[in-house]
Amino acid sequence: MPIPDSFLDELVSRTDILDLVGGYVRLTKHSGGSMFGLCPFHGEKTPSFAVNPDKQIFHCFGCGKGGGVINFIREIENVQFRDAVEILARRAGMTVPETGADNELADKRRRMLELNREAARHFHEMLSTPQAKTAREYLTKRGISKSMVTRFGIGAAPESWNLLLEAMAKKGYSRSELIQSGLAKPGSKDGSAYDVFRDRLIFPVIDTRGGVIGFSGRILGDGEPKYLNSPETLVFNKRRNLFALNIAKKTKSGMLILVEGNIDVVALHQAGFDNAVASLGTSLTAEQAQLMSRHVSRVTIAYDSDQGGRTAVMRAIPILEKTGMNVKVIDMGDAKDPDEYLKKHSADAFRILLERSDNHIDYRLTAIMQGHDLSSDDGRLSYLKNATDLLSDLKSAPEREVYGARVAAIAKVSPEAVKNEVAKKLTMKKSRQRKEFEQQVVRPAAAIQPEDRALRYSNEYSAAAEEGVIRSLVRDPGLMKTAQAMDFTVDEFTSEFLAGIYETLSRRISENRDTNAALLMSQLERHEASQLTIILQKPEAGSNSEQTYREYIGKIRTEKLKTTAPDETTLLEIAKIKSKKER
Ligand code: GTP
Ligand code: MN
Repeated sequence: MPIPDSFLDELVSRTDILDLVGGYVRLTKHSGGSMFGLCPFHGEKTPSFAVNPDKQIFHCFGCGKGGGVINFIREIENVQFRDAVEILARRAGMTVPETGADNELADKRRRMLELNREAARHFHEMLSTPQAKTAREYLTKRGISKSMVTRFGIGAAPESWNLLLEAMAKKGYSRSELIQSGLAKPGSKDGSAYDVFRDRLIFPVIDTRGGVIGFSGRILGDGEPKYLNSPETLVFNKRRNLFALNIAKKTKSGMLILVEGNIDVVALHQAGFDNAVASLGTSLTAEQAQLMSRHVSRVTIAYDSDQGGRTAVMRAIPILEKTGMNVKVIDMGDAKDPDEYLKKHSADAFRILLERSDNHIDYRLTAIMQGHDLSSDDGRLSYLKNATDLLSDLKSAPEREVYGARVAAIAKVSPEAVKNEVAKKLTMKKSRQRKEFEQQVVRPAAAIQPEDRALRYSNEYSAAAEEGVIRSLVRDPGLMKTAQAMDFTVDEFTSEFLAGIYETLSRRISENRDTNAALLMSQLERHEASQLTIILQKPEAGSNSEQTYREYIGKIRTEKLKTTAPDETTLLEIAKIKSKKER
């Protein structure tokens, strides 16, 4: 009886690879988005064992072992797949389902959602009791209206260790159910428990299907931690949800306003902006960006004006852009966040800000400008260098033209000089990309062959492009549409191993499920997982994923033409030509 995919997805998404590996390996060095340590699988003195938290995979550059969390446990505990799953499940507080289990898990999830809904109702009702006087005063102080309290289902957890536990017990929910849903914690006495949310203002987190998946509790006044969020549970995954998207997705504006804080969201909705969302206290994830792009085609970032907010904006821009959404950024000047801006100024002022908001190119150019002393020649020169780097990344020529002129004015040089500099950088970039593409696909080095003999590629040239197809799809599942438009099918793969991965990928994409590396990896044998890790780590040839993807498919097809025997008519033609020559 196989373990249901849905359970594995859940398990993998609830296991963080850094945490997991950190329990076995001391990860000390940080480099290029990965943490390094001494490889636990072979003896070494300098760290070549890398863990990549973004992709949720590990890879040893020394011995070549690699994979996701399940592969790691199989390797380090030397156990079979099933046992590895057991170990991780125990660690995550989950139970590996028995027969008929997918239903069981679904039931469990449904029950947890019901409990959360009851809890949300309880918190909301509590808000009008005498015990919640401070919470009501806090709402008044922050200027949050009654109708917003209703719209967001805002509630209060009075100061008590067991108010919620008792109220839910009356409705038939056990202590362990409250613990599993993150609403209670086990106490020091056996079997005892206490409420997690105490003396806090409660914001329920509701997903786009209307399920109450978790809670966010703000302290009343100052103190630490300011926000307390539900932990990851069977129904709550912070990386895959946004606060208030359940409301904002109904907007007619065609765009979303992305802010940092829950309070900012509420303040904006109150001021008439029905399209504000926040990313649940984490820095924006690719999953959240994708989720947004399912509902709108434009997004405006209105993060806090402090240094942390600016850094977060720079990080969020490429993530949002990747989904194809149009991205803009708001600069609120003297106000620290949208809530403060609305109080200092007005909803109308914010609307003007929205309309005039810079696209992210402006924003980034300004950020570059602020980092240089423009009164000195050296400062202007180094500004010019950084700004033209950014300009050469822009895809449209008119954009390069417009911003080029602006950069020229700031650097006090002629627009032509900027134009030439950008053109030079563009040419360099293009030739570098072409070279990379050729190295990887047109003339793959011998290193393309997998270590494992069983996985050997029959046609290295095609295999290099097939690897590219898989790498691109993991990064951007939207490319599956391109494959379909090109009538590309799995039969065109020459490597059986890669074909298998492609099949898994296309199934997951068509079922609208997660396709991250760790999930793909979980069911693979160790040598397969290691090979896939290597493939996914290879740098992408070319920066335009759509175009590169087409080139990969093109390459697979030309290779195919080279190897297939010519058909009869071709043979006849050849015979004709030959006989002509002989005559
Ligand atoms: P106010 O300061 O009351 O206006 O709240 P805010 O909602 O604007 O919060 P802030 O700008 O300080 O933080 C932005 C978001 O980061 C919050 O909404 C939370 O989701 C998250 N956050 C802030 N502080 C904490 C914290 O102490 N713990 C956790 N887990 N998240 C936090
Ligand atoms: Mn704030």
